[in-house]
Amino acid sequence: MDYRESHKQSGTSYDKNLEEEAISAYMTKLEDALLRTVVPSLFPDSPPVYLDFACGTGRITKVVSPMSARSFGVDVSESMLEKAKSKCPDTQFFHIDITQNSLALEPCDLITAFRFFGNAQDALRVNVLFEFNRLLKKEGYLLINNHRNPWSLQYLLGRLTGGGNELDLSYIKLKKMLNDSGFKIIKVYGIGAWIFRNALAQSKYLNSGFTKYLEMLSKLPGAYLISPDSLIIARKYR
Ligand SMILES: C[S@@+](CC[C@H](N)C(=O)[O-])C[C@H]1O[C@@H](n2cnc3c(N)ncnc32)[C@H](O)[C@@H]1O
Repeated sequence: MDYRESHKQSGTSYDKNLEEEAISAYMTKLEDALLRTVVPSLFPDSPPVYLDFACGTGRITKVVSPMSARSFGVDVSESMLEKAKSKCPDTQFFHIDITQNSLALEPCDLITAFRFFGNAQDALRVNVLFEFNRLLKKEGYLLINNHRNPWSLQYLLGRLTGGGNELDLSYIKLKKMLNDSGFKIIKVYGIGAWIFRNALAQSKYLNSGFTKYLEMLSKLPGAYLISPDSLIIARKYR
């Protein structure tokens, strides 16, 4: 499978690791708050059919499924799905790789895919986006994040001081992939634009009272280009 092995984790350790890593916990908190605003703004009457792709332990499913009339999750990892099932009793989960087997589902109104595209390789990204296009209704919405932005100031500075160069999914690259598979970006929210050095990614800063003011920097025009995480709303146009 075309998915970076180093990012595969088991259902038992995944949530714990995210909670313990201050920057991941911070991203989770902000993504959660954004989803609670964005989903009702896109679907004032709740999304009729919602799918969480690569749902993992249900981190995002558990936020969006209560806002949806019917919800589905899909993942290739059985141990991740076990956790997701325990958090989301009203969601139907599928244990398949949708790039190998088609998901037999009625047309969806909303698909989410978090912490997936940044970790996947190009062939898998493209494959999955075309499958999303097939699964979504015309003008359906796709909500994804990119938490591995190679243009984030934190990552660029890290590289200048000897850090690795394993990230490759810039906003421009992702936008082109989305366009090529029939999606148009309609809104992007940056997260953590102010975290320009690793030292700021410690819990004492991330959990301080100042972050809500610092986080306003992420709302400046174009700040998502250099933010370590972003939430992207795209719509199927063909
Ligand atoms: C980093 S986890 C993200 C989980 C969840 N979306 C979240 O944001 O917490 C990535 C997930 O993608 C799943 N995955 C990788 N390749 C997949 C594929 N081809 N089809 C379905 N799930 C896949 C993995 O099993 C893993 O649960």
